Amino acid sequence: MYLPSFRLENKKAVVTGAGRGIGRALAIGLAEAGADVSLLSRTQEDLEDTAKYVRELGREALVIPTDVTKREDIQKSVQTIVEKWGKIDILINNAGMNIRSKALEVTEEEWNKIMDTNLKSAFMMSQEVGKIMKETETNGKIISVSSVAGTVALRTGVVYAATKAAMIQMTKVLAMEWGPYNINVNSIGPWYFKTPLTEKLLADPEYLSDILSVTPLNRVGELPELVGPAVFLASEAGSYVTGQTLFVDGGMTIKGF
Ligand SMILES: NC(=O)c1ccc[n+]([C@@H]2O[C@H](COP(=O)([O-])OP(=O)(O)OC[C@H]3O[C@@H](n4cnc5c(N)ncnc54)[C@H](OP(=O)(O)O)[C@@H]3O)[C@@H](O)[C@H]2O)c1
Repeated sequence: MYLPSFRLENKKAVVTGAGRGIGRALAIGLAEAGADVSLLSRTQEDLEDTAKYVRELGREALVIPTDVTKREDIQKSVQTIVEKWGKIDILINNAGMNIRSKALEVTEEEWNKIMDTNLKSAFMMSQEVGKIMKETETNGKIISVSSVAGTVALRTGVVYAATKAAMIQMTKVLAMEWGPYNINVNSIGPWYFKTPLTEKLLADPEYLSDILSVTPLNRVGELPELVGPAVFLASEAGSYVTGQTLFVDGGMTIKGF
């Protein structure tokens, strides 16, 4: 027998930004693969909606309102999860936002907000959950949602790009440091997927046409197309993959002209 398991039964997962968009899709997808899921973001109602889908699948959902830019909030939430479950097997760092100012107009406040939400939060979550994974020897899997914007210069704005590039590098260093504890650390780099973050942009025919002109598959992604790669990295099927960023991008990052 050669095929390792892609299933996640008995696994306990934490997903940040699980209230909508990509985070909601990943939380439900992990539950479909068998995991129980803790749902973190600031808006309880959104999390309750995601929880409904998870519970319909017969999996446990913990709704834990958390501002992931605040260490105290993170510590409290991780403590609640560990008291309930005793372990965490999978962490998805997905919470993120953007303000698309041109470089000359970026304010210090914008810089701090984007950095804290996209990058510092993922580091603090990884630190707090990484400690638990190390102590409980769960062969933990940490997966951060970076972006094509972390490797290719796009019109997304310089601060967003810097957070995602840093996330890709942070993934490599954490993978190196935590490999000895059997913790796999990887990232998924999406190109365009329709979510509340991107729907306005994608509704602009000119912008959409620019996007498709550099996308070999000639379409934007569908949310289930991110779930497959995430489940692969979260399961035993991906157990020898660490420090990598898997671009889920319809071929965008390999296209020349
Ligand atoms: N959509 C795309 O095409 C695309 C492409 C590349 C990368 N990404 C990345 O994928 C991730 C998800 O994007 P999305 O499109 O699904 O965005 P979205 O629809 O705007 O969802 C973002 C989620 O993050 C949560 N969040 C934001 N700030 C938070 C905070 N301080 N504390 C806790 N949760 C917070 C939001 O909940 P609350 O506001 O309720 O807290 C929400 O649940 C982001 O990291 C984004 O950069 C997206």
